[in-house]
Amino acid sequence: MRVALVTGGTCGIGAATAEALQAAGYRVAANFVSHAEAAQAFAARTGIPTFGWNVADFDACRAGVARVEAELGPIDVLVNNAGITRDAMLHKMSIAQWREVLEVNLGGCFNMCHAAIGGMRERRFGRIVNMGSVNGQSGQAGQANYAATKAGLVGFTKSLALEGASHNITANVVAPGYTDTAMVGAVAPEVMARILATIPAGRLATPAEIARGVVFLVADESGFVNGITLPINGGKYMA
Ligand code: CAA
Repeated sequence: MRVALVTGGTCGIGAATAEALQAAGYRVAANFVSHAEAAQAFAARTGIPTFGWNVADFDACRAGVARVEAELGPIDVLVNNAGITRDAMLHKMSIAQWREVLEVNLGGCFNMCHAAIGGMRERRFGRIVNMGSVNGQSGQAGQANYAATKAGLVGFTKSLALEGASHNITANVVAPGYTDTAMVGAVAPEVMARILATIPAGRLATPAEIARGVVFLVADESGFVNGITLPINGGKYMA
């Protein structure tokens, strides 16, 4: 049974991904950083074990991966889903808002891949999916920090794809559009109404619709799909 670790895996797209992987026959671990009670409820409901650490912390990621591997076995599949927003127009954005988003969204992906890649190389198998965003492709007013990280993940992932290919390790990006999660729910209703009008599908994605793309990319049978960005955005942006 393949082992999969999903960061930010107890709510939103991460939770849907963890559950979809479980349904597809993976032994799944879900990482979280705060909201321990919600993580506990998620574990109780799904039977998926949860592990708390901050992906922005390099050493905590190494320790976290070691804990997951001790309990579940070597990690075959890593889904770097953990991400945050600190939206503000650039002229109002603080250096703290810039740094926090970079450290979690981009730094967290580096930290987690760095911790897991050695084992994948040794075992000559790995599947990595990094959660991008339509806004990393199109840009979004108020998200210079977030969009920079999500675009940065694409270059990071393509480099990893080149490095891992000879070891049967693939790395791909899923780029969700606006999805029915707490993150999108935090956008002011009048702003959201304007955004909804730009989505041809006329609605938000469900988290499960994003998870479906992850399950495809991490399958053993998807070994020749490497370095791509899979947009799942209801037609909002076509690269
Ligand atoms: N394009 C261009 N200009 C825009 C704009 C847009 N989409 N939205 C706002 N502006 C302009 C406004 O017209 C205004 O201009 P003036 O000052 O000249 O009148 C200026 O920007 C300031 O706008 P606000 O009054 O809204 O500024 P604010 O400081 O109150 O709020 C904000 C700024 C918090 C960034 C708010 O605009 C916002 O929440 N925007 C949405 C950001 C967004 O889409 N976030 C996505 C979160 S979900 C996610 O990230 C998941 C994912 O991957 C998709």
